[in-house]
Amino acid sequence: SNLGNFKDGSESAAGENYADINWDNYELGFYLVPTDYMYVMKCAKGDKFSQGSIVPYGNIEISPSAGILNYGQGLFEGLKAYRTEDGRILLFRPDENAQRMKRGADRLCMPSPSNDQFVNAVKQIVLANKRWVPPSGKGSLYVRPLLMGTGASLGVGPAPEYTFLIYCSPVGSYHKGALNFKVEDKLYRAISGSGGTGGIKSVTNYAPVYTAMTEAKANGFSDVLFLDSATGKYIEEATACNVFVVKDNSIFTPEIDGTILPGITRKSIIEIAIDLGYQVMERAVSVEEMLGADEMFCTGTAMVVNSVASVTYKETRVDYKTGPEALSAKLRATLVGIQTGCVEDKKSWTV
Ligand code: COI
Repeated sequence: SNLGNFKDGSESAAGENYADINWDNYELGFYLVPTDYMYVMKCAKGDKFSQGSIVPYGNIEISPSAGILNYGQGLFEGLKAYRTEDGRILLFRPDENAQRMKRGADRLCMPSPSNDQFVNAVKQIVLANKRWVPPSGKGSLYVRPLLMGTGASLGVGPAPEYTFLIYCSPVGSYHKGALNFKVEDKLYRAISGSGGTGGIKSVTNYAPVYTAMTEAKANGFSDVLFLDSATGKYIEEATACNVFVVKDNSIFTPEIDGTILPGITRKSIIEIAIDLGYQVMERAVSVEEMLGADEMFCTGTAMVVNSVASVTYKETRVDYKTGPEALSAKLRATLVGIQTGCVEDKKSWTV
């Protein structure tokens, strides 16, 4: 109710038209605030995507026998549009999302939009919904591309028709403050090794974390950290983000081995840390190493960079360094600075 009635916008200081949200007093979280339009493009099995369109945001109609509903033939992506102080709108590395969706589509036997089609569709849908891009410093517009088998198929096999759809929602922080992780040692997020699907943004990777996540939250934790399914000795990732640990001047994060989601924030933070003179090692990180670390943080598009205040593994709880002196605060400030146009984008990451 604090969001106002979504009618056409008030005039901002920058002279842009904004949706009628009380942007100054309302703190956005990470939940759906529907916007005006979505982008839809369809293609038949064996064809290439060719022409999409912008349509009013709303429910879609698909067969009860659609591939996505019955056999989980679907992927999602996530990226954000930020408004700069001078009123421009920036996307962060959208081509990386396009490439990751293509890799996932190959794994799940789906056609995928080309890089250009993906990036152009994202630009179009953000511009169509631009009154929902929060003012600078008030959040971002989260952009959620989906690729799914929408054609009907009773037998197990690739659906006869596919839909690429993008919708958006203005968002704020995913979590408030530093996180308290519970290490899950009985349920796994994805099978370990190169043959699974942990490394793609398959929709089927997310619901399997709900049981552990719900239980952890009921016990006062903010999130769950999953271990490798082969040995249970190494950390993998949390429900919706990659993880890093810091010891002295070195940073460690599980390597991209087929199980770990190749996060775009993960990849960017690694580059930023190396540029700042830190040693970054992508390799297996054991539970013992994590428990002996000075600092821990996680990264993701939705989460950005969030510090971890504590980890609880069985009966052991370890506390980590957090706050403005933590390395993650420095890394986050550089990343967000680039994303929002406040820090020079020497790498041409923003569009
Ligand atoms: C993102 O960070 O964009 C993700 O995909 C995680 C999500 C499930 C909120």
